[in-house]
Amino acid sequence: MKIAFTEETISALKTDLEIIFLVKKDYEHRWIKKYATALTQLGFKGEDLEQIFLNESGKVIVSIDELNPESLRLAAAAAVKAVKGTFKSAKIGLYLDGKQKEESLLAMCEGLLLADYRFENYKSKKEETGIQELFISRSEYSNKKIDPQGAHTIIEEATLTCEAVKKVRDIVNTPPEEATPEYLAETARTLADTYRIGCTVYDEKWIKEAGMGAFYAVGKGSSNPPRLIHLSYRPDGSAGTTNTAATSTEAAPAKPRARVLIVGKGLTYDTGGLSLKPTTSMTSMKSDKAGAVTALGVIIAAARLKLDIELDAVLGAAENMVSGNSYRPDDILKAKNGKTIEVKNTDAEGRLVLADCLCYAQEQEPDYIIDIATLTGSCVVALGEHVFGIMGHSDELKSRMYSASKKSGEQAHTLPFNRHLKKLLKSEIADISNIPSSRYGGASSAGLFLSEFIEEDNRDKWLHLDIAGPSFVEKEWDWNPAGASGVGVRTILSWLKGL
Ligand code: BES
Ligand code: ZN
Ligand code: ZN
Repeated sequence: MKIAFTEETISALKTDLEIIFLVKKDYEHRWIKKYATALTQLGFKGEDLEQIFLNESGKVIVSIDELNPESLRLAAAAAVKAVKGTFKSAKIGLYLDGKQKEESLLAMCEGLLLADYRFENYKSKKEETGIQELFISRSEYSNKKIDPQGAHTIIEEATLTCEAVKKVRDIVNTPPEEATPEYLAETARTLADTYRIGCTVYDEKWIKEAGMGAFYAVGKGSSNPPRLIHLSYRPDGSAGTTNTAATSTEAAPAKPRARVLIVGKGLTYDTGGLSLKPTTSMTSMKSDKAGAVTALGVIIAAARLKLDIELDAVLGAAENMVSGNSYRPDDILKAKNGKTIEVKNTDAEGRLVLADCLCYAQEQEPDYIIDIATLTGSCVVALGEHVFGIMGHSDELKSRMYSASKKSGEQAHTLPFNRHLKKLLKSEIADISNIPSSRYGGASSAGLFLSEFIEEDNRDKWLHLDIAGPSFVEKEWDWNPAGASGVGVRTILSWLKGL
């Protein structure tokens, strides 16, 4: 679906389909009145997010209880999902919350675009349904005005952002036989070339020699070797090589607002390793790469939106498999910062990969380090499938990320650390154990494990996002399809914009 803004009135626009929102059961409104009788006859009650598709008259009607960005995003998504069949063109009027006009248009576009997604790369017969081009008319529900130039910009922003989210869904949904660590590296390289992002890929030999013993161990049981993928976006276009100081002799450009680094867990498959997962828990573990892919999505969107921020993404890609060369429970691994880790469960592998990637990240000296990972089943138990966890030591940083999630419409909540949980990670023979001695508070103790690899000076610069729940859900929800959601991209972008 392509969205365009037009200065034509809604009635003058000629399209195959029209989307109308019934707001607060106001059947008398000029856009609804002529359908009021038909709606009642069809048993339409006007309840929140109730939808009806009138095929003959080419109308989709969705009712909402409130007119605000959040309900507009949901209503727009509901409308798109209600459409059956293909339509070349559709139209919709503007619905603006007087206090948040720009946010209303952005949210409506996001709902429309994000709900218009199907992963059909592996279907021999593709389903034929959807809208090709959608026009948003300047006619507004209660005659509010928006600057047309501003409207174009917002639509462009929504389009670029949602394209990144859908790219993330595509990659996360790709099966593990195809989406190996090297595939992630190749995909990252290609996208980096397209959007002028720097990209360096390090292989298993480099990972081992760099002293990343924890990351290396996780990948060593697989015939698809691990990769560390380092992407960098510079607003002045100077990215190209990472790790090396810029060699340009031109005058130094203005200092960007901040330097941010995102670390992503990229387990292209997590069998659990020798601590093998039971059958039903293993299915869907192709999504264990979602953190890394989200980091990739964020950097692509940031580059396309030309954010005034220096951004790096470090993707730790590996496959946790079972073989004669797998790492074992009882092994002791040495991370890049010299800390030793006793492996008690090879299924707690994400934190091992992240530990080394976080050490590497800190060497780049960013102002903020955000890691994002499908890290624990405990986080899903704690917050439910649709909510991701925000952890860290800085209350201020956590609260800013939480606000960003609210703004984006993605659901998140903060989870606390405490000293009792930290004690549970004690090992008798190494510096730390990779699992806690109690099964309670698993999301927080995993966060505390990562915290052990954050230097004292960087404690308040770091946040950990556990997206194990919402990154991949078997049933469609809100504007998300069944499968990968691309969650996190819009929250992090919203947070970046607010820096
Ligand atoms: N990839 C899983 C976490 C996960 C669970 C992601 C469910 C998505 C949905 C992770 O590597 C894992 O297996 N964690 C273990 C940790 C435990 C062994 C301490 C878990 O959560 O059970
Ligand atoms: Zn695991
Ligand atoms: Zn995992």
